[in-house]
Amino acid sequence: MNVVILAAGQGKRMHSNLPKVLHPLAGKPLARHVIDTARSLQPEKLVVVFGHGGEMVRSTLDAGDISWALQEPQLGTGHAVAQALPLISREGQTLVLYGDVPLTRASSLKRLLQAGHDGLSILTVDLPNPTGYGRIVRDAAGNVQRIVEEKDATPQEKTIREVNTGIMAIPSARLADWLGRLSNDNAQGEYYLTDIVALAVAEGLPVRTAQADDEWEVLGVNSKVQLARLERVYQRNIAEAMLVGGVRLADPARIDVRGELTYGRDVFIDVGCVFEGRVELADAVEIGPYCVLKNVKVGAGAQIAAFCHFEDALIGPDGVVGPFARLRRGAELGPEVHIGNFVEVKKSRIAAQSKANHLAYIGDAEVGQRVNIGAGTIVCNYDGAFKHRTVIEDDVFIGSDSQLVAPVTVGRGATLGAGTTLTKDAPPDALTVSRAKQVTLTGWVRPQKPKK
Ligand code: UD1
Ligand code: CA
Repeated sequence: MNVVILAAGQGKRMHSNLPKVLHPLAGKPLARHVIDTARSLQPEKLVVVFGHGGEMVRSTLDAGDISWALQEPQLGTGHAVAQALPLISREGQTLVLYGDVPLTRASSLKRLLQAGHDGLSILTVDLPNPTGYGRIVRDAAGNVQRIVEEKDATPQEKTIREVNTGIMAIPSARLADWLGRLSNDNAQGEYYLTDIVALAVAEGLPVRTAQADDEWEVLGVNSKVQLARLERVYQRNIAEAMLVGGVRLADPARIDVRGELTYGRDVFIDVGCVFEGRVELADAVEIGPYCVLKNVKVGAGAQIAAFCHFEDALIGPDGVVGPFARLRRGAELGPEVHIGNFVEVKKSRIAAQSKANHLAYIGDAEVGQRVNIGAGTIVCNYDGAFKHRTVIEDDVFIGSDSQLVAPVTVGRGATLGAGTTLTKDAPPDALTVSRAKQVTLTGWVRPQKPKK
């Protein structure tokens, strides 16, 4: 089986410099949804026909298993498939998909291929308003005769509600001959792929139709309005699958998954959360409202409070994080670590049961177990040219508003007095304070404005 994905069209109505098939749906280009579905059918050849947006389309979507056929100029869907001919095998079936119809399910395509195993098959749908689509013309016995495009249809034909989705399975051995016989003598002056249906009928080949399970599977994207609608369909489907899988969602209409989200049992997600890339939530994880998680693993039983932002980070089991916490690239929290409001962690490992509950920056640091990092602590990891590492060993207590000027090590069990600016290593088990001694000046008076 071959798959040919048509993706050469311009997409004028998107009003965008980005080629239509590269517009993201759930964070992934439209055409990549189609490519991924096609791949799941394990085709022998996977060809993408490209044209508008040329190199950008190709470089964005390229992968080892894709062959590229340039269509320039674009003379219609039949002409588009013809550009792929030299790249496909002449055996089995050729499945034609559209790069701007992103949500077709593999199960529907399998049914289509099955229906066309000894002939040609068309994926069709009955629409209450079929305007704009090619209509499926059948004879009195109900056999498909041909497809007529809206612009070429008679008033009688325009009343037909069964339409061509554009997705077809075609016997590969006949494709070259049929495409060679297409003419552009029609209302749009294009080479219509749909005209091969009448050619198959004339040869006495069985022409069958298959229907998709849901209408959204065959909806295309021609505008931002349609893109937004399909985004909601996609997100509703994901949310429903999560509910079925046992996740508790505060509102299935208010979650966005743009990537791959896996989850254990008894997970709860509050409203407004966005998940990007690969996110793993272990058993009993709870996530408060309006959090953004990108490429994150959250350990079992961890509690994430509202308004957190995590990227490329790891949260250990039974962690307590947020509200308003930021974990950046390379933040790795061990079991039962607490990270509170307005704390930022970057490229740092924080071991079990350590806490930084308020207003801190921890960057390029190695933090041991049971460490307490006081409010306002800053790890000064950057000297203006280079980043340096800081080591804070087990059972350290760092007083509020301290600065640790890296590279520096705080020894096991050490205490830093509040307001310490640490520029040299602090020895273990001792109190280190860098601030000036407190003095009280008696007889000192505040400056005052002269009285009138
Ligand atoms: C096509 C079908 C119509 C069907 C409709 C479903 C034909 C002649 N008509 O019409 O029966 O109901 O789709 O949406 O096939 N493309 C190219 N190169 C081209 C022309 C198109 O790659 O030269 C691609 C487009 O990027 C798009 C797809 O083919 O992904 C369909 O093209 P479009 O112009 O939207 O076809 P329609 O006129 O809507
Ligand atoms: Ca179209």
